Amino acid sequence: MIEARRGLRFLLNDEEIALADAAPDETLLDWLRLRRSLRGTKEGCAEGDCGACTVLVGRLCGGQLVYEGVNACIRFLGSLDGCHVVTVEHLKGRDGTLHPVQQAMVDFHGSQCGFCTPGFVMSLYGLWMRSPDPSDEEIEKALQGNLCRCTGYEAIIRAARAVSSYGQGGTDALALERDAVASRLKAMRDGRRVEIGEGRQRLVVPASVDDLAAVLEAEPAATIVAGSTDVGLWVTKFMREISPAVFIGGLQELQAISEANGFVTIGAGVSYSQARSFLAQRIPALGTLIDRIGGDQVRNMGTIGGNIANGSPIGDMPPPLIALGATVTLRRGGERRSVPLEDFFIAYGKQDRRPGEFVEALHVPLPKDGAHFSVYKVTKRRDEDITAALGAFHLGIEGGTVSSARIAYGGMAATPKRARAVEAALTGQPWSQETVEAALAAYDEDYQPISDMRASAEYRMLAAKNLLRRFFIETTGTKKPFTVKRYEEA
Ligand SMILES: Cc1cc2nc3c(=O)[nH]c(=O)nc-3n(C[C@H](O)[C@H](O)[C@H](O)COP(=O)(O)OP(=O)(O)OC[C@H]3O[C@@H](n4cnc5c(N)ncnc54)[C@H](O)[C@@H]3O)c2cc1C
Ligand code: FES
Ligand code: FES
Repeated sequence: MIEARRGLRFLLNDEEIALADAAPDETLLDWLRLRRSLRGTKEGCAEGDCGACTVLVGRLCGGQLVYEGVNACIRFLGSLDGCHVVTVEHLKGRDGTLHPVQQAMVDFHGSQCGFCTPGFVMSLYGLWMRSPDPSDEEIEKALQGNLCRCTGYEAIIRAARAVSSYGQGGTDALALERDAVASRLKAMRDGRRVEIGEGRQRLVVPASVDDLAAVLEAEPAATIVAGSTDVGLWVTKFMREISPAVFIGGLQELQAISEANGFVTIGAGVSYSQARSFLAQRIPALGTLIDRIGGDQVRNMGTIGGNIANGSPIGDMPPPLIALGATVTLRRGGERRSVPLEDFFIAYGKQDRRPGEFVEALHVPLPKDGAHFSVYKVTKRRDEDITAALGAFHLGIEGGTVSSARIAYGGMAATPKRARAVEAALTGQPWSQETVEAALAAYDEDYQPISDMRASAEYRMLAAKNLLRRFFIETTGTKKPFTVKRYEEA
């Protein structure tokens, strides 16, 4: 084993940083504002909701330099080794002129009190880099994770539409620096594990997946940190200690997604953004669902493996993956075992993960030809909201009769859970309105939901039943599926 490096190395704008004293729970936002005096990046909510803290993080992905907007408030320094952090201070041209995104925000009055503005600018900058002339839908998606209490958004959207008419940003800092930055990041890669601090101050960045397995065998109680969109809030909202923290976000071996023999294999470190188009092509309902998870920043950071490992009863990925019949591969040291995903969730907050084990991958069977698969997420608002109830339906229908049924819900029990009684009431029956109405009684056998701030028990039960009705209506073609795109069209 090569000796561990005792510090993080990354780029901040155009400066090379070497940090030997990063704490495991030190957020990028605190570091920027308190230690670097870069106060353009704001703190609004400190929980990934408002986007005031948006910065771009660039990393090498298969040799390509990719920039993504992230929430600095819930991103830890330990996740930045080998990355390029770009803050709003880096946007203006070398001659001091505003970047097209900034100039458009000025000209279209996209800013009032200004508190949210750097975050919007960074999100729009990220959008402009990947899509210089975006559609309204792209603009809305890019801004799902940014809140403004002043402008009413229309001015910001007008600015976003206009950016393309400000030229293609020939003097844009990142465009000019791209090759140089890629070379600098490559030069930082030394293939070594990073270890900093001891006891309550300990953080580890494994060098590879094998190294991660070794680290966790030696320290089975360590906190695994992937995208930190859950763990970040443990720190900023619940003041929990996470040391020793093991950062796995840089392990590209965990970020592969592939299809073979009727299965999709998703590495535990694949983010929602990385998975989105791949899954949307093969299982369209999952693409639509991903668009409603968090905002762009959360989707860029958060991983599907983290959603599974976290085991929340209102996590969005478990129900559809259970309905599809997915299995999860767990690894400890060199040993692997495979568990049906539905058996992985044992009780509230308790998963079938042994000390020292980590989630390595998910294996998802593709729906068979002719099978029907849909997912419906019920929330108080369309964008960036946590599930009140979510239903995933996977039915085989042959000759008008239900030949197989796998149905799972989130938000209806202490864990993501299959609706086995409902499935039994449907299987072997004609796929008809009468069968559906008769099966509704079985929901009481499957679920006893609770009331909380997101929904009452009665609401959850009624919504869950209505989702089955909706699935019936959509699969039988009696009505077209309806999706809210822009509110004024609804
Ligand atoms: C603003 C906001 C909006 C959100 N919206 C949604 C939403 O709409 N729907 C939804 O489902 N979730 C949502 N979330 C929650 C979160 O984004 C997801 O649960 C996400 O998938 C977690 O992934 P992560 O990589 O960030 O996990 P982390 O926060 O890094 O880790 C989560 C848990 O999983 C463990 N873990 C991570 N990777 C592994 C691994 N490979 N092996 C073993 N354990 C592991 C960690 O130790 C921790 O216990 C939201 C979060 C925020 C902040
Ligand atoms: S401060 Fe609100 S998302 Fe970070
Ligand atoms: S301009 Fe005031 S919060 Fe957006």
